Amino acid sequence: MAKYKLAILPGDGIGKEVIEAAMIVLKKMNLEADYFYGDIGWEFWCREGNPLPERTIKLLKETDACLFGAITSKPKEDAAKELAPELQGKGFSYVSPIVKLRQLFDLYINLRPCKAYLGNPLNYRDNIDLVIFRENTEGSYAGVEFYPLPEQVREALLLHPKMKDFKEVPAEEIAVSTRIMTKKGCERIVRAAFEFARKNRRKSVTLVEKPNVLRETGGLMLKVARKVAAEFPDIKFNEANIDAMCMWLVKNPQDYDVLVAENLFGDIISDLAAQLVGGLGFACAGNIGDKYAVFEPTHGSAPKYAGLYKVNPIATLLAAKMMLDWLGESEKATTLEQAIAEVIKEGKVRTYDLGGSAKTLEVAEAVASKL
Ligand code: NAI
Ligand code: MG
Repeated sequence: MAKYKLAILPGDGIGKEVIEAAMIVLKKMNLEADYFYGDIGWEFWCREGNPLPERTIKLLKETDACLFGAITSKPKEDAAKELAPELQGKGFSYVSPIVKLRQLFDLYINLRPCKAYLGNPLNYRDNIDLVIFRENTEGSYAGVEFYPLPEQVREALLLHPKMKDFKEVPAEEIAVSTRIMTKKGCERIVRAAFEFARKNRRKSVTLVEKPNVLRETGGLMLKVARKVAAEFPDIKFNEANIDAMCMWLVKNPQDYDVLVAENLFGDIISDLAAQLVGGLGFACAGNIGDKYAVFEPTHGSAPKYAGLYKVNPIATLLAAKMMLDWLGESEKATTLEQAIAEVIKEGKVRTYDLGGSAKTLEVAEAVASKL
């Protein structure tokens, strides 16, 4: 029996193409692994009313980690029209399978490395190498929202003195989204960031928050972060506000090392930082829990490129590299990263986003040839 069982979820559109590319590279690495393909995404929703079928959840439970491509999702009204005729009108609604995965497996870390590889013509600067730890389960994306405002919720909110300004606003003229942060949620993401920093000889961890305005949730995060930071005297701890951080990341991205943030703020700085090192063709993510992890490129299914084998697979190859690291195969992870870096540096095999005309699988073959 192989050492690892890995779930492979290609998904929709270009998700299938970038996963095909990753498999060329993974197979060349002779990892002791068995690969199991699973169903996820829009196609399965249209056919079955479920974008994350039970059989896929079962598959994930039986594997050690997962590599995921990308899925399509659509607004409610458009979605309803594409549902299979026999499922029409039965109340199926599309729920993001990736969000569901995060919840089901408690994948509380969204790890977003942003590194400028030498020779990438899209680098904003060549000396950027930062890592973002975004909290992945709560905060502003906890999903606790109300509209129209239920009377019981209004009653509860009236406990807050500021709510009196909204007391008379009709239920259908007021929407409420919450920001829920727990001590446990704050502590485990900050701790993960510090442990990563120590293990990878990183010099600093910067908390990105807004505790001067979001006093309760931001205040809790700050308090918890300071306490955890005290356990890591070898690592410098900085505090920054989200708005200022966006400016600093554009001004001096090379000064940052490990960043840690709540879900929404982490989402914002992740996309900002990704664009500094090449954008969607390079941006990968790890959704990581204590027992399971799902690795993915952060881009979507890019319907306009689907089937053309034109898009850049590097984000997915870097996601595979992260998966190897997480499995404890650090030597193999380094080998893969070096091969990717060499192909980028040589600049001979480039997809359209880098000004080239190479096909998706040609990039994978070029990387595989360096292994
Ligand atoms: P997208 O990320 O799929 O593509 C936007 C544009 O970015 C593309 O048209 C292309 O120009 C560029 N791009 C994306 N990936 C690239 C790559 N690997 N190489 C080179 N260029 C690349 O975002 P879009 O068009 O907003 O969404 C399409 C679908 O994907 C939607 O249904 C959306 O809901 C879904 N989506 C899924 C995600 C996921 O599976 N994690 C994440 C983001 C969007
Ligand atoms: Mg995002």
